[in-house]
Amino acid sequence: MKQYDALLAAASTTRRGTPTAAELAIAVLAPLSLFLQLLALVSYLASPALAYTALSDHFLKLVPSGGDDFDIDNGKLLAPILIPRVPGTPGQVAAQEHLVNFFRNELPSWSIEWFNSTGKTPVTGDRDIPFHNLLFKREPPWVQEGQSNLLTLVAHYDSKISPEGFIGATDSAVPCAILMHVARTIDHYITQMYDEMNVLGEGGTVPMDMGVQILLLDGEEAFLQWTETDSLYGARALAEHWESSYHPANSFYKNPLDQISMFVLLDLLGSADPTISSSFLPTHWAYQAMATIEQRMRKLNLLESNPKGPFLPDAEKVVSKFGRGMVEDDHIPFMRRGVPILHVIATPFPSVWHTINDDGAHLDMPTVRDWARIVTAFTLEWLDMMEVEPKDETSKGG
Ligand SMILES: *[C@@H]1O[C@H](CO)[C@@H](O)[C@H](O)[C@H]1NC(C)=O
Ligand SMILES: [Zn+2]
Repeated sequence: MKQYDALLAAASTTRRGTPTAAELAIAVLAPLSLFLQLLALVSYLASPALAYTALSDHFLKLVPSGGDDFDIDNGKLLAPILIPRVPGTPGQVAAQEHLVNFFRNELPSWSIEWFNSTGKTPVTGDRDIPFHNLLFKREPPWVQEGQSNLLTLVAHYDSKISPEGFIGATDSAVPCAILMHVARTIDHYITQMYDEMNVLGEGGTVPMDMGVQILLLDGEEAFLQWTETDSLYGARALAEHWESSYHPANSFYKNPLDQISMFVLLDLLGSADPTISSSFLPTHWAYQAMATIEQRMRKLNLLESNPKGPFLPDAEKVVSKFGRGMVEDDHIPFMRRGVPILHVIATPFPSVWHTINDDGAHLDMPTVRDWARIVTAFTLEWLDMMEVEPKDETSKGG
């Protein structure tokens, strides 16, 4: 991904003499756009689908960390993807097999879908390079096509072609492993929830028809140098495809983009002392929900890492500070099409970023496991799982 910080520098104006018509228009429109942003925020907050109940302390304590499954040598989730995973190479295929077999064998009620495309890159000439996005989805059994709203958890599984042997542990093997852990942890709660709702004849309303999908995207990395066309190969193809994939005319949501209740993108996670900024005002409330989970888990001594500050320090960020810079990443093709984004990326980037040192040995394992806990708790809370809060102390889901 690529970072910009100076967007607003170009937009700031100095005023001399009589304001021009354009300047007057800006003066009138600036507060208006603030008003519209606030309006968007209020409408998000008021949306019934998103009015959820906080997880209890009891439930937070049951959220598992994944433990040894994140071991870098033998861990069931992470170790198999700590290999170069460049599109068009055997490493890419091995990573796909690991991801797909995990869902196929352990989470049979999730649907598995491939979204394949090809593209040419500046370093591979006329050869068509294959890109394979992997889509895993769990939605209520009663929903029709285009009826469910889907919390969408996203990471990229490809790795950068250079330097040779680059592993991309934070970029983004760890985020992929975290999402596998989230899926297996929430699975039996989702089953219980859907079963109970089915018996009660609930379902069929926007707040009830909640599902979750995990997108493991391919071709995020540039092959030569980050440009609009040399980057985000998988994300661009998928967003474009979904934009024109219309559901039947009477569907609640018009296309798969419209079904995304929140696009939560994890990237560059696994180094010690991460800080995650809140990037977008319309989804700041979701950032705050995640930040609150981190604070509560830390207070309850449920987190292992000992960072200099919180992972998510921006909960109190004021409206006027939004819009100053951003990081280009897999959310861009979706954001441009109106999808709400929560970008969970460490900024500044980890010091190992895009170097040969972004490998298993340089990960901070307490931080990795803490992210697994935080993202799992956030997902459980989003999906309103207090409805099926376990009554006993037994931790489930490994
Ligand atoms: C996509 O590619 C994979 C791997 O080559 C293949 O197994 C799968 O059938 C393809 N899927 C579609 C829908 O073309
Ligand atoms: Zn990268």
